[in-house]
Amino acid sequence: MKIGIGNDHVAVELKKEISAYITEKYGYEVVNYGTDSSERFNYPVAGEAVANAVVSGEVDKGIVICGTGVGISLAANKVNGIRCVTCSEPYSALLSRQHNNTNMLAFGARVVGPELAKMIVDAWLSGEYEGGRHQVRIDMLADIEERQKNK
Ligand code: RB5
Repeated sequence: MKIGIGNDHVAVELKKEISAYITEKYGYEVVNYGTDSSERFNYPVAGEAVANAVVSGEVDKGIVICGTGVGISLAANKVNGIRCVTCSEPYSALLSRQHNNTNMLAFGARVVGPELAKMIVDAWLSGEYEGGRHQVRIDMLADIEERQKNK
């Protein structure tokens, strides 16, 4: 399993801690698409880079972190095929996998501390998509993307 990770300047330290956590706990490869500098870095760049890596199959799933998790998730969700959830608690992270088949997770370095972030990551990584009755809605999301392309 390969996880793409991306962040802006606000989330450098949390990105490093979460990357190490995932590698140590799960043995997954974590590929860094974010900044490692405290210089201002615009979150859409990292959001789009991780999203493209997920859609192309370069990585299996993506995690993105900015101050709130909002801006970077908005960027990721602009990429066709991405379903990115912004979470500040584990319940939504888990359900977003089970029901919405999210392929990206976002959270905010100014919103959650490292231990809560790890709980969110654990919930999200452990969640299995349930398919079945949920698939019709996932297909409808893809239909929206198709309609937008034809505008
Ligand atoms: C950067 O100041 C901040 O706007 C960004 O990290 C993020 O919170 C945006 O959604």
